[in-house]
Amino acid sequence: MKKIAVFDTKPYDIEFFDKYKNEYDFEIDYFESKLRYESVALTKGYDAVIAFVNDNINSKTIDKLIENGIDVIGMRCAGFNNIDVKHAKNKISIYRVPAYSPNAVAEHAMSLLMCLNRKIHKAHNRVRDFNFSLNGLVGFDLKGKTMGVVGTGKIGREFIKICNGFGMEVISYDPYPIDDENIEYVDLDYLFENSDIIALHCPLTRNNYHMINKKSMEMMKDGVIIINTSRGALIDTEDLLEAIKKEKVGGAALDVYEEEADFFFEDVSNVTIHDDVLKLLLSTTNVLVTSHQAFLTKEALDSIAHTTLQNLKDFFDDKENDNKLVL
Ligand code: NAI
Repeated sequence: MKKIAVFDTKPYDIEFFDKYKNEYDFEIDYFESKLRYESVALTKGYDAVIAFVNDNINSKTIDKLIENGIDVIGMRCAGFNNIDVKHAKNKISIYRVPAYSPNAVAEHAMSLLMCLNRKIHKAHNRVRDFNFSLNGLVGFDLKGKTMGVVGTGKIGREFIKICNGFGMEVISYDPYPIDDENIEYVDLDYLFENSDIIALHCPLTRNNYHMINKKSMEMMKDGVIIINTSRGALIDTEDLLEAIKKEKVGGAALDVYEEEADFFFEDVSNVTIHDDVLKLLLSTTNVLVTSHQAFLTKEALDSIAHTTLQNLKDFFDDKENDNKLVL
């Protein structure tokens, strides 16, 4: 029986991996710690590891995994910007779950926008204090507004459909446009200049690090809303805070943050936070932050567990599998 070590595990992961482990005849141990060089010693005696978005799979970690006899990493997520893929090439196999529930993320992006725009979070806090005043809660109709979608992959396309349902005008940018008459492609500068709301649905790559920065925000409409459910480092957070302070940007709804690894998914309410940018972000009135939870639906967790274990089985059975990263 193959032995699998799952890192950065939370109770909701265990529920769904346990559901499938007998079907795959794997012995699974769950570790709360993240997979990184400091914790990689735990992998000794295992055949495979399962890792997540904020694990740090750098060259040192990869070398140690190989030394410990690990031949395969199953990422239980779509993104893989936390892996030194170049270093892993020809040394260790890596699989991912490219699509588990694109609509879960797209629906969360729209939820963030709705909450931020109609100030539901503020209204909820107010009425709990018997404050029924509406002052400061004015939002705007989404109907007729222009949504700029950056990245028209699986999530972006679901998000476009939702926006169409709201009667919004949608313009999109993607360096690899697809042939779909329902998607209106424009260049990125045009999207920045003409969108009332901009939603990021692209991966983080070497080319788009901090694509939302002082310069790009200067091009945008005054009061633009920015939604990011993709990866934190697509946005220069300090520039964003400055643009919000100057009221250039009207608001930001963020499910991801560039320095999230030490905080997101964890309860650090009793810890002194030394990240001043995060503190400022959380205390800024037009900013709504969730803790990388866009994927968190029952359907997505079920699909993640099932596909991750199937990926590992295919590796052990030496079967073709499209979820293997090209290394
Ligand atoms: P996908 O691979 O289906 O689509 C990504 C699209 O982005 C592709 O069409 C690609 O051509 C495009 N793209 C690549 N570079 C770009 C650039 N510089 N500018 C604009 N578009 C670019 O990926 P999917 O499933 O739609 O996911 C998108 C991103 O969402 C993931 O990379 C991941 O970072 C994030 N994500 C976040 C989750 C969360 O819980 N917050 C959960 C799952 C994914």
